[in-house]
Amino acid sequence: MIDFKELTQKYKTPLYVYDFDYMAAQYKELKEAFRGRKSIIAYAVKANSNLSVVKHFAKMGSGADCVSIGEVRRAFLAGIPAYKIIFSGVGKSDDEIREAIERDILYINVESEAELGRVEMIAKELGKVSRISIRVNPNIDPKTHPYISTGLHDNKFGVDLGTAKRMYIRANNSDFLDPVGIHFHIGSQLTELNPIRESAEIVADLVRSLEGINIELKFFDIGGGLGITYDDEKTIKPYDYAQAILGTLTALDLTILCEPGRFLTANAGYFVSKVLYEKQNGTKKFVVIDGAMNDLLRPSLYNAYHKIEAITESTADERPVDIVGPVCESGDFFAKDYMLPELNHNDLVVVHSTGAYGFGMGSNYNTRGRSAEVALENGKDRLIRRRESFEDLIALEQEFLEN
Ligand code: LLP
Repeated sequence: MIDFKELTQKYKTPLYVYDFDYMAAQYKELKEAFRGRKSIIAYAVKANSNLSVVKHFAKMGSGADCVSIGEVRRAFLAGIPAYKIIFSGVGKSDDEIREAIERDILYINVESEAELGRVEMIAKELGKVSRISIRVNPNIDPKTHPYISTGLHDNKFGVDLGTAKRMYIRANNSDFLDPVGIHFHIGSQLTELNPIRESAEIVADLVRSLEGINIELKFFDIGGGLGITYDDEKTIKPYDYAQAILGTLTALDLTILCEPGRFLTANAGYFVSKVLYEKQNGTKKFVVIDGAMNDLLRPSLYNAYHKIEAITESTADERPVDIVGPVCESGDFFAKDYMLPELNHNDLVVVHSTGAYGFGMGSNYNTRGRSAEVALENGKDRLIRRRESFEDLIALEQEFLEN
């Protein structure tokens, strides 16, 4: 049991709290599922990019899946070795590509023919060979929220099979490109195994056809996407996930690369706020808390469900309330018609499953400083990011006031 009262007395609210032991257990379970094959778990830094979180995974041997050069730099700072860092994303700038090649990371995940051309040109300028992988779009419906679905041709991600093959041939013939991997990622919060298995089959077939023309890849990058339980969703067990994928790789000697984000961190995280007031408009009841959409955007953006727990002495009957923040937007809510008892000023409201895509999707909207972040590990708590102050928020503007 986490003592949120004590933690908020020490660190104030709003506050993100991460259970590092839970993250470690998730990492180990997934790594273990691929036992018997060479595998790299490359933590998807975007899910929670706090340096201490990335370092926590680095210490367990994790790699990093990065989608900006900023994330690549974070991965290095946190101690992830270059040979376990990959760089994905649909639009990389020349500067980002250059730095990734100079830093000699494991590979750049290429998402278009035009990008392949840029990578080749930049590698040539640098007099280096760039290792690459190509993101294939298998055109499979992952059956998840449309905003986080990525494996259909309607989505902007990856290239179709025919284009991928052409790109591999081109890369293989280039003096500056070394095609080492193949990648697919069909979406996030996946709770059905079949779309993953089908995608893996399609991509494994492409690997075989490439072998037929003497293009030998080393890495089979299965992306991320493993879903978690927010409410009562049935999820895929890591063991079944691994078996489904390995089953498509008969006779292929490939290292598995897996890019989980949410699975490793989401259910390790809690977002803790204080109740400011309750109010009633007509028949509608609201609980106004000191956290807001700038701290946690998922409910506003995706209408995402997060379990909410109230820490209160109140013994009143539960009634449906909207839990909202102070930001000037009707979309600033955490839950609607959620059953909670009457709450008092300074009671705590804990939003669960917020360790992934929580803090990282935050902003300073309404000139609100971002929350502090705290890690819990081996029964001890420690600050891993201090609360942003007003001075932090104006630091990049203040000098221009004189003009
Ligand atoms: N690899 C690639 C290429 C990705 O695009 C993503 C996530 C991952 C790995 C990690 O996926 P995960 O294992 O976490 O599902 N903001 C949304 C999620 C966006 C996911 C974007 N890509 C949310 O809050 O649900």
